[in-house]
Amino acid sequence: MNSHSFGIDLGTSNIKIYNRLDDSIFIEKNMIAIQNKRNIFAYGDSAYEMYEKAPGNIQITYPLSNGVIADIKNMEVLIKFFMNDLMKSNVKPADFYIAVPTDITEVEKRAFYDLIKESEVKARKISVVEKALANGLGMDIDVKNSQGVLIVDVGYNTTDISIISLGGIVISRMIKCGGLVFDETIKNVIRNELCLYIGGKTAESVKMQLRDLEAQRQDAVVYGRDIVSGLPVERKIPTRSIDEALLDNFNLIVDNIKIVLERTPPELSADIYRHGIYLTGGGSLVNHLAETIEMGTGLKVNQAEDPLSSVAQGLSKVINDDNYASVAYSIEGMGR
Ligand SMILES: Nc1ncnc2c1ncn2[C@@H]1O[C@H](COP(=O)(O)OP(=O)(O)OP(=O)(O)O)[C@@H](O)[C@H]1O
Ligand SMILES: [Mg+2]
Repeated sequence: MNSHSFGIDLGTSNIKIYNRLDDSIFIEKNMIAIQNKRNIFAYGDSAYEMYEKAPGNIQITYPLSNGVIADIKNMEVLIKFFMNDLMKSNVKPADFYIAVPTDITEVEKRAFYDLIKESEVKARKISVVEKALANGLGMDIDVKNSQGVLIVDVGYNTTDISIISLGGIVISRMIKCGGLVFDETIKNVIRNELCLYIGGKTAESVKMQLRDLEAQRQDAVVYGRDIVSGLPVERKIPTRSIDEALLDNFNLIVDNIKIVLERTPPELSADIYRHGIYLTGGGSLVNHLAETIEMGTGLKVNQAEDPLSSVAQGLSKVINDDNYASVAYSIEGMGR
């Protein structure tokens, strides 16, 4: 097997790259900052640092939207930069394994392949792995031999619900709900209850603190702009008000899991009942989501140990374990 291999999970908010050379997973914000419509000002985590703070001549964007590549040119630039950083500017020929969502069109899938081909990263061979299968492998499921596994990946602005069986995808459904939607809900509840505008980053940070705040019986402290006075202020909000608002989002996920379960062949339902649901994706870390799914479906929820990197961990198995090499494929018409 070739020594240079990379596994890429191109998430809408975070890119994760498994590097076979040192068996590590690199995670950065999948963001680019462009100055005066021409110059690349920053990328990755440093672009995110400036997000919502930069002047009008610096545009900071995510090149992916809802799991698909929306801005190919900037995504190519980002891949080139990230790979350059990973290989310490000495880019050598390598094989690439890229995870793709199931519930997108063939044209959108092909765009992932073209991206690597066009990014000047010296790709030798480019293979594609269905994201749900990579997620399963990353959560230690023997995806080739297991029958009926339900995987829920709560990402940035989408949640993927998939049933996998014997190395393939039986059903897959993508809904527009994820970490970003939770942040928007938090922004809205704070605007309605406290008459306060807060930024997306503040909302995200409140979301990440909810579990600890609840354990310490403390309110969330938020800084923003008072709607009436227009002045910067500090306010407090009980975590319970936020939890209640988030429940609608959680229920949307539960309802869609139920829709997928209703369409599942009965023989597979029995296995799903036995194993429970496998929950992953950074968005799944939000407080009370796992219990809400457990209560809403009556199924046990198995939470990924490291929800941000389960796809990349799965890709590492495809790369290193010959038993799982067949999970990767090249899309028809794509040269090796
Ligand atoms: N501790 C945490 N608590 C709550 N949410 C979290 C936590 N850590 C990360 N998140 C959320 O996880 C989301 C990112 O997750 P992830 O990296 O899995 O998405 P992605 O792969 O980039 O997106 P997608 O799969 O939708 O393309 C963000 O919305 C972030 O706020
Ligand atoms: Mg993801």
